[in-house]
Amino acid sequence: MKLWSGMLSGNLDKNAEEFNASIKIDKRLVFDDIRGSIAHVKMLAKTKILTEIDSQKIINGLEKIYKDLKEKKYEIDLSYEDIHSFIEAKLIEEIGEAGKKMHTARSRNDQVTTDFKLNLRGETKIILDLLKEYVEIILALAEKNKETVMPGYTHLQAAQPITFAHHMLCYANMALRDIDRIKDFYKRLNLSPLGACALAGTTYKIDREFTAKELDFDGIVQNSIDAVSDRDYVLEMHSAISQISIHLSRLAEEIVIWSSQPFKFINLHDSFVTGSSIMPQKKNPDMAELVRGKSAKIIANMNQAHIMLKGLFLSYSKDLQEDKEALFDSIDNIKLSIEVTSGMLNTLTVNKERMFDEAKHGFINATDLADYLVGKGVSFREAHHICAKVVNKCIQKNIGLEDLSLQEYKEQSNFFDKDLFNKINLLTCVQNRKSKGGPSPIEVTRQIDFIRNKLKNL
Ligand code: ARG
Repeated sequence: MKLWSGMLSGNLDKNAEEFNASIKIDKRLVFDDIRGSIAHVKMLAKTKILTEIDSQKIINGLEKIYKDLKEKKYEIDLSYEDIHSFIEAKLIEEIGEAGKKMHTARSRNDQVTTDFKLNLRGETKIILDLLKEYVEIILALAEKNKETVMPGYTHLQAAQPITFAHHMLCYANMALRDIDRIKDFYKRLNLSPLGACALAGTTYKIDREFTAKELDFDGIVQNSIDAVSDRDYVLEMHSAISQISIHLSRLAEEIVIWSSQPFKFINLHDSFVTGSSIMPQKKNPDMAELVRGKSAKIIANMNQAHIMLKGLFLSYSKDLQEDKEALFDSIDNIKLSIEVTSGMLNTLTVNKERMFDEAKHGFINATDLADYLVGKGVSFREAHHICAKVVNKCIQKNIGLEDLSLQEYKEQSNFFDKDLFNKINLLTCVQNRKSKGGPSPIEVTRQIDFIRNKLKNL
């Protein structure tokens, strides 16, 4: 029987029945729904809207259902319209008439958004923990690679020398912002809609602050229409997840490139690569590719929520039932994406020699060479000009800047002397970049400490 069959027969057309049902999606809210109902009924007892006896019966019944479901004594019956209908029917089955009083001073409109918020709160905490672990893994990798020189790129052209630690800390900083973003929207998420009822509150003397407190909300949504129609928290969570996903997919792209044959900067562990059914030599970075690929779905899911809400008449319309599926999908995918990325980072090996070798071939110390001349009193523009000629010479000879003889340097400028070789040594180049945020090992140590401190205070 439908919760709403009364005036109506409740006998829906077969297709309409299937179309209308949401239980396959909202069954995920089952424990949140029971928790919300217990708080609601406690409030009904406190405000004397229900008797002590009835409310105690309902609470005991709900607690039993909670326990039975946790212990998997039975399954959720998917023939019900939604999880709210199933729990109410189960309660009536368990305790009889008193169960029919649970829904006093409540509507599924405030109930469903309360359940959803409770559920997202839990998911948010899981995502935060995964992000923290991911940052820790990056920090450990950075600790081991403070002197691992690699080319830093702009336009995917070798630009200037950096270290692998310095590069990876960029991703740690992105993740810190992701953590911040989640913490920020959490404040707006964590307000209770319960007690808004269908849209216009109720004539019963309910206590909304009481249920908010029972459910660990920080307060209540002030306006009852807003309470049932607001899905900003859905948009904000989609947006935060999309941003995490975009960050991970940028790293994934680098992992794909770094592990490719022309680069070979890193080796992925066998537990994170797959082979080919035809080419025996293949070691494919599928996990990184999928992290990159899943980001498309995650961003599309975010768009679905935006489009669903746009222009929606106040207050509740059934369109809002479509708020959960996409977000649950994004949550599941982002959790796995973070875990898989952490796993790859935790197990990969860094080919330090290969990175150094590549760094030697891109003339990435050319800026340092120009700075050397500036140190001898040459203007930067002039120094740039002279060094470009030196680079050209090296290209002709197919050698690096460090391999050109002093005599050939002197042919370009008399300001060159033998101390230039120390200046353009790649490790020296990195060590000298001590400016705040730069790649020098001392500065990278400071950055690592800064992030560790931030993590501790989160
Ligand atoms: N399954 C619905 C949802 O997810 C529950 C609320 C239904 N409310 C209603 N008035 N039909 O939004």
